[in-house]
Amino acid sequence: MNKNQQKLIKLSNGVEMPQIGFGVWKIPFNQTAKTVANAIKNNYRLIDTAKQYGNEEQVGQGIKESGIDRKQIFLTTKIFNGDQGNFDQLRNAFNGQLKKLGTDHVDLLLLHWPVFNKYIESWRALEAIYNDGQARAIGVCNFDVEHLKDLMDHAKIMPMINQIEFNPHIHQPETVAFCQDHHIQLEAWSPLGNGQSLSNPVISKIAKKHEKSPAQVILRWELQQGFIVIPKSVHEERMQENRNVYDFELDADEMEAIAMLDEEKHSIWYDKYKWSGNPNGRDDYIAKPGEF
Ligand SMILES: NC(=O)c1ccc[n+]([C@@H]2O[C@H](COP(=O)([O-])OP(=O)(O)OC[C@H]3O[C@@H](n4cnc5c(N)ncnc54)[C@H](OP(=O)(O)O)[C@@H]3O)[C@@H](O)[C@H]2O)c1
Repeated sequence: MNKNQQKLIKLSNGVEMPQIGFGVWKIPFNQTAKTVANAIKNNYRLIDTAKQYGNEEQVGQGIKESGIDRKQIFLTTKIFNGDQGNFDQLRNAFNGQLKKLGTDHVDLLLLHWPVFNKYIESWRALEAIYNDGQARAIGVCNFDVEHLKDLMDHAKIMPMINQIEFNPHIHQPETVAFCQDHHIQLEAWSPLGNGQSLSNPVISKIAKKHEKSPAQVILRWELQQGFIVIPKSVHEERMQENRNVYDFELDADEMEAIAMLDEEKHSIWYDKYKWSGNPNGRDDYIAKPGEF
């Protein structure tokens, strides 16, 4: 495959989405527009943001600055936890997000977290947004099997995506199997383990053999399992590196060696900000947009 070509994944509603995208969480605010424009210049066509990241306006600016037609960009954003649970409030808040992004629709709209007692009503609002053409596809993030079953029992439209934490150190096998059985496309967030998976010696050894970088090996391992990936980097050479992963293949032994690294350990911050609001072991802290 030509290095500039994008492999597309067809979602359950027929919409096509690039398999490799660009995440924008934690990019310094004053660099976000320039970095997004640069990612687009380097052939990224999927951009992943969220109200939580506090940078939708800068992302919208970056898309404009890139000079590439908005229709060529697959834009994802997410519903903020504090906007969940009330149909009208969620829709109003989402209209505000569209304004900040400088567009009349997004390509994918996700519920950022399964906020306890609120995600069913939130999903009803996402269905209305989808039916009104303000989102070409809808889905969820961080839903486990229990959340998905509950949502699907109440939904008229099934989620097209589940964006979950997935990298060599966390595999969430039950959630992955459930999504694969129910035509819910998996998307890996923190696909490089937020940078923490890059120094693993098993991965370094495989990278050396293929004359690739550890990041390329990790992304390749995720792509070969059918995931969409959204690595973030503020560095142009890393952006290019992360896109250039279609010219080699990991064999079964290499896939297995990386699979063995699983620790089922979430990122450091994950447990600190258990955002779902479920009283059974999760607090109801709701971070402010852009808080981190
Ligand atoms: N739905 C959710 O709940 C959720 C949660 C977290 C994240 N996300 C999404 O997932 C995206 C990606 O996750 P993430 O930002 O946590 O982490 P990540 O993409 O796994 O890793 C990013 C880190 O790796 C470094 N890096 C990137 N490419 C590299 C390369 N080729 N070589 C060496 N280092 C490299 C980056 O540094 P530099 O920038 O300095 O290059 C940064 O420190 C986010 O931006 C966001 O869009 C979603």
